[in-house]
Amino acid sequence: MLDMIHVRSTLADEYDLAPNAKLADSMGDVYGRMDRVVNPIDWATYAPYVKAINEIKKKRNAVILGHNYMTPEIYHGVSDFVGDSLQLAIKATEVEADVIVQCGVHFMAETSKILSPSKTVLMPDMDAGCSLAESITADGVEEMRAKYPGAPVVSYVNTTAEVKAASDICCTSSNAVAIVNAMESDTVIMTPDQYLAQNVANESHKNVVFWPGSCIVHEQYTAKDLKDFREWNPGTELIAHPECPPDVVAEADFSGSTSGIIKYVTDKKPKKAMLITECSMASNIADELPEVDFVGPCNMCPYMKKITLEKVLYVLHTMDNQVEVDPAMAEKARLSVERMIDLSKKLGI
Ligand code: 13P
Ligand code: SF4
Repeated sequence: MLDMIHVRSTLADEYDLAPNAKLADSMGDVYGRMDRVVNPIDWATYAPYVKAINEIKKKRNAVILGHNYMTPEIYHGVSDFVGDSLQLAIKATEVEADVIVQCGVHFMAETSKILSPSKTVLMPDMDAGCSLAESITADGVEEMRAKYPGAPVVSYVNTTAEVKAASDICCTSSNAVAIVNAMESDTVIMTPDQYLAQNVANESHKNVVFWPGSCIVHEQYTAKDLKDFREWNPGTELIAHPECPPDVVAEADFSGSTSGIIKYVTDKKPKKAMLITECSMASNIADELPEVDFVGPCNMCPYMKKITLEKVLYVLHTMDNQVEVDPAMAEKARLSVERMIDLSKKLGI
């Protein structure tokens, strides 16, 4: 676990990180991307970190890959590339930097390291896990293979390198249906998200069998929540991530990956939208879509929220928290991820 007292004293020796209204004012171009959701006082506390991170990034020849669930000051303030799991995995193969800072959760950093073994991949907080990735090991994959002999294993990218290595191919929420449909066998094993698997099964002609994992953020929504909300707020578009249970997805107007959700709202510009997913999603697109009123409750991912500006600056300063993957395991895991990327490109996803 990161010792935050040590983190703070290390940073205090090197940087002036006190809230600074004058500096915040001078960085109005950056603030303009988030001023609908970040108040000026908070911005004055973030601005010194944003400035320091953007400076040290150049010194280290580093890029920051920010997932769509990062808070707005990370998403808009310091990320060089933002996107969903698939987009970030592809970006990790393309960037020319020496260092990748993964602003997301641990499996994403592992995926970047698997795809770019020669790069240094830094994780601002090694404890930023994922309930899905933690729900299965390679033994679980073997258990499923023994139960369904000959069926290919499609593992969600939200898994450890060990599980990816034990699988035939990976998928993300943006390509899951296409990947499953592209398998030759009639029966396809999906791990570890039972709800993503059931949602895929509803759109596929395959017999999809699954591991009983779930996302602690999306499993909390119920179809009744959505029905009630629609009744109280007629005219609101309900937009759900496919990690939600199938009856929730059935109740929604649209379901898609985090980038699919952004595209849908950006194209459709509904007057009112409720994003049935992690809270930062709506915050990150609120400024670009002033005509959309984002309403309703949301759920926070406690793992994603472990990533803060302070920890990003600390790892760039110290080069601590380097993600390592055993090379033999990485080699096997890479095949599963590359098969997914190649197939997605071939299918035009
Ligand atoms: P996507 O960004 O691929 O939709 O995944 C969502 C997620 O839960 C990542 O943790
Ligand atoms: Fe894992 Fe769910 Fe958090 Fe994504 S939102 S990192 S799937 S726990």
